[in-house]
Amino acid sequence: MSQEFQSPPRIITGEGSASAVGAQAQALGATRVIVVTDKVLREKTDCVTNAVACLKASGLAVEVFDDVEPDPSVGTALRGAEFARACKPNLVVGLGGGSALDIAKATAAILANETPLTQMWGVGNVPAPGLPMILLPTTAGTGSEVTPNCILTDVKPGGGHMKKGIVSPHILARVAIVDPLLTATAPPLTTASAGMDALTHAIETYVSRSAQPLTMPLALEAIGLIGKYLRRAVANGGDLEARRQMANASMMAGLAFANGFLGGVHAIAMAMGGQFGVAHGVANSLILPYVMEFNEMAATEKFAAIAEALGEPIEGLSERDAARCATEAVHQLVIDVGLPHVLADVKISEDSIPALAEESFGNQRLLKNNPRTATLQDLRRILEAASGLRKERR
Ligand SMILES: NC(=O)c1ccc[n+]([C@@H]2O[C@H](COP(=O)([O-])OP(=O)(O)OC[C@H]3O[C@@H](n4cnc5c(N)ncnc54)[C@H](O)[C@@H]3O)[C@@H](O)[C@H]2O)c1
Ligand SMILES: [Zn+2]
Repeated sequence: MSQEFQSPPRIITGEGSASAVGAQAQALGATRVIVVTDKVLREKTDCVTNAVACLKASGLAVEVFDDVEPDPSVGTALRGAEFARACKPNLVVGLGGGSALDIAKATAAILANETPLTQMWGVGNVPAPGLPMILLPTTAGTGSEVTPNCILTDVKPGGGHMKKGIVSPHILARVAIVDPLLTATAPPLTTASAGMDALTHAIETYVSRSAQPLTMPLALEAIGLIGKYLRRAVANGGDLEARRQMANASMMAGLAFANGFLGGVHAIAMAMGGQFGVAHGVANSLILPYVMEFNEMAATEKFAAIAEALGEPIEGLSERDAARCATEAVHQLVIDVGLPHVLADVKISEDSIPALAEESFGNQRLLKNNPRTATLQDLRRILEAASGLRKERR
């Protein structure tokens, strides 16, 4: 079996690197730029003003679309594209968390293709390369700046919502700029949920059935950095060392999962996001320890390595006990950073478990990478454990 590793051709990192956006846009031959971002960033931080000033100083015409909500909808993508079309841009700059970056990707894809967005769902269905993109993350979490994925919330035919993905090399950024200073204004809850999303990417990819040589070291390094620095970033947003390490960890976890792929946690979290509007990072964080517990026996050696990367004292323990330490360490991290750890905390009742399990089971694109085969019944049991109905171990 051959495997392929894809990434943006240029990844720029480091404090202050956001100021390179103008020169990078020029180098891509841009003349008219649409910046896709959100209102919180535009009104409560100076990152949008700074990026626009940089682009203008490089002689570019700039328009800003700032109407992106968290876990954005298909409707937002279509409005973003309509706004952008009127500006006739030849470059899209995404500036924000995963939500703004994903709308930037959808905008770039829609503007360069005749095919409607609704026919782009799934893997490899964007016909032609999107407009060139520069992506600058303001959260350390999704890794969207380096992935070929775009996740949107869609209306289900029978009512309700579901999260759906577009995966295509045609929506990879030409340049990713990972400036940790952009994340310094993120409040503790955003920092925590984004950081746990990155940890989920790293852990799911490390144990993935589709892991490949480059993804494993990237994932393990990200796990170690997040274990060491996420608490610090949540406790003190001004801790620049913690911000730098988290920004790098998120980018590395993004490169890892874009090529080694996600599993059961994301299958369930996407269903939780669609059906109950639970924010992506919060949903992943809540479900992660329960899926790890389920997966332990399928990848004991890898879970033991995760425990070690997280700094757990595993010396002298059996591999099985060491693997268990990984799950317990992650559960403790969820609690320490102040995120919900049972379903009731996000207002999901036990009655909802069968429907939630059913929809999660539909995410076979993700479940096929899970190290342990998960049946519908298994997903139900995982959700029951997350609701506190089963206390087999904890
Ligand atoms: N494309 C991918 O590869 C990928 C991967 C994982 C997740 N996602 C998607 O990304 C979305 C979640 O993104 P997210 O967790 O980064 O959060 P987000 O983009 O939804 O932002 C959450 C909130 O934090 C605010 N915020 C962001 N950065 C800030 C900063 N520096 N200072 C102050 N406020 C800030 C935003 O304004 C927003 O209100 C979900 O839709 C998820 O499905 C995409
Ligand atoms: Zn994720």
